[in-house]
Amino acid sequence: MRLPWPRTLRARLTAGLVVLLTVSCAAVGVAAVVELEHFLTGRVDQQLSAAGVRFPESLEHNERTRRSDHDGDENGDTRRMATGTFGARLADGVVTSAAVVRPGDSTRGLDVTLTAKDEAALVAVPVDGRGHTVDLSSLNEYRVVADQGADGDVLITGLPLEPVDAAVRRLELVATVVFGAALATTGLAGALWVRWSLRPLGRVTATATRVSELPLASGDVALPPRAPEADPHGEVGRVATAFNRMLGHVEDALTKRHASEERLRSFAADASHELRTPVASVRGHAELALLHPGPVPPKVTRALSRIAAESARMGEMVDDLLLLARLDAGRPLERDPVDLTRLVLDAVTDARAAGPGHRWALELPEEPVTVPGDAHRLHQVLANLLANARAHTPAGTKVTLSLESGAAEAVLKVHDDGPGVPEEVRHSVFERFARADRRRTAGSGAGAGLGLSIVAAVAEAHGGGVTLESRPGSTTFTVRLPAGTE
Ligand SMILES: Nc1ncnc2c1ncn2[C@@H]1O[C@H](COP(=O)(O)OP(=O)(O)OP(=O)(O)O)[C@@H](O)[C@H]1O
Ligand SMILES: [Mg+2]
Repeated sequence: MRLPWPRTLRARLTAGLVVLLTVSCAAVGVAAVVELEHFLTGRVDQQLSAAGVRFPESLEHNERTRRSDHDGDENGDTRRMATGTFGARLADGVVTSAAVVRPGDSTRGLDVTLTAKDEAALVAVPVDGRGHTVDLSSLNEYRVVADQGADGDVLITGLPLEPVDAAVRRLELVATVVFGAALATTGLAGALWVRWSLRPLGRVTATATRVSELPLASGDVALPPRAPEADPHGEVGRVATAFNRMLGHVEDALTKRHASEERLRSFAADASHELRTPVASVRGHAELALLHPGPVPPKVTRALSRIAAESARMGEMVDDLLLLARLDAGRPLERDPVDLTRLVLDAVTDARAAGPGHRWALELPEEPVTVPGDAHRLHQVLANLLANARAHTPAGTKVTLSLESGAAEAVLKVHDDGPGVPEEVRHSVFERFARADRRRTAGSGAGAGLGLSIVAAVAEAHGGGVTLESRPGSTTFTVRLPAGTE
């Protein structure tokens, strides 16, 4: 099983703190326990050397009967011996007697019967006058010293290690409780402290999130207030400062971009406005020249009529550009009630006249449909869509113009069963100057590619939109206009 790895910086710092403290506490605890045990055992060794070999020396041999039960028999001189002192006498590597000093004021020790294992442990104690620990199953743990007796016997004196063990266990318990409490407190306080220290980072994140939700792509963008400044010498403060500086640069760039957009827009508006008059005048003069009486060479007549036709087209284009520039600038449109049914009927009548080779169909609801808007612009929308259905499909194509009215919006659909919008322009038909074949020249009678961008801009200015679904044999432009029940 894998432990869950903390994801947040806060959790990681807190976990790191707690782990480090746990390791330190464990090290301190183990060192203290080992040192205390060593120290107390040293004390027992001192007591042992002070006690000397008097007690085992005073023991009587009871070798012959040692296998029988001696418990309860008295043996040895216990005067000035501490309670629990153990004495044993070994002759020729065999324990001949063993006794302990019992509590109370008896002056005689008490015989103990040792198991074979205990005897083996005692026999194994080196006779060097130094303390050794032996585990006597009949008497618990003992610290024993073995000395050579005057008569050649080995004399063993021992003191119980029970008080040492008790002290060590107590220290272990106290250390566990104290360190546990310290760890819990540090974990809690550390978590709060880390949280408090990282607070400015949270504010930077909040500001960054707000910025990321802004539509930065176009228009005049107001950035949210800067993240609050923190101590610039700390890491978090440096992040906040750098972030704020970056926001400043972004804001500068956005302001510059907005200004340049505005300049471009007003340039387009001014240019198309200024072009209108000369274009109209070229056209007027050409038409006037065509009316000139008398013999005119046919070449000149053809040239003049081309000039008239092209300047008429140019005039329309200039008007389209001016309209787009005005819609871009967010100029308010008229908001009168527009009878869409009427508009649709007019548009189809015009289209029939312009394209007698196509089949025109109409689907209208029973009730007249009215939306608030600009009648002139909406007429242009329909005219552009129907002109496309005529211009970009072969003769004989069936074009259906339908109008539906819902509670919240009116839906206009222009459907044709022509070849469909070419794949390469399908995703960009609503962009300016988007058209299938860019190589087509003005002379071929092809449009500039502004018709659908005007449809989209007008629909959007009305609060609606336009979508396209196209495949060979079925092309549908759908214009949605809000019913605007104010
Ligand atoms: N009903 C249609 N069927 C097939 N292709 C179409 C249809 N309507 C539009 N298109 C394609 O989309 C392109 C863009 O149309 P748009 O009306 O914007 O420009 P245009 O008709 O070429 O020129 P303009 O309308 O400015 O005179 C067209 O050039 C044409 O390739
Ligand atoms: Mg068009």
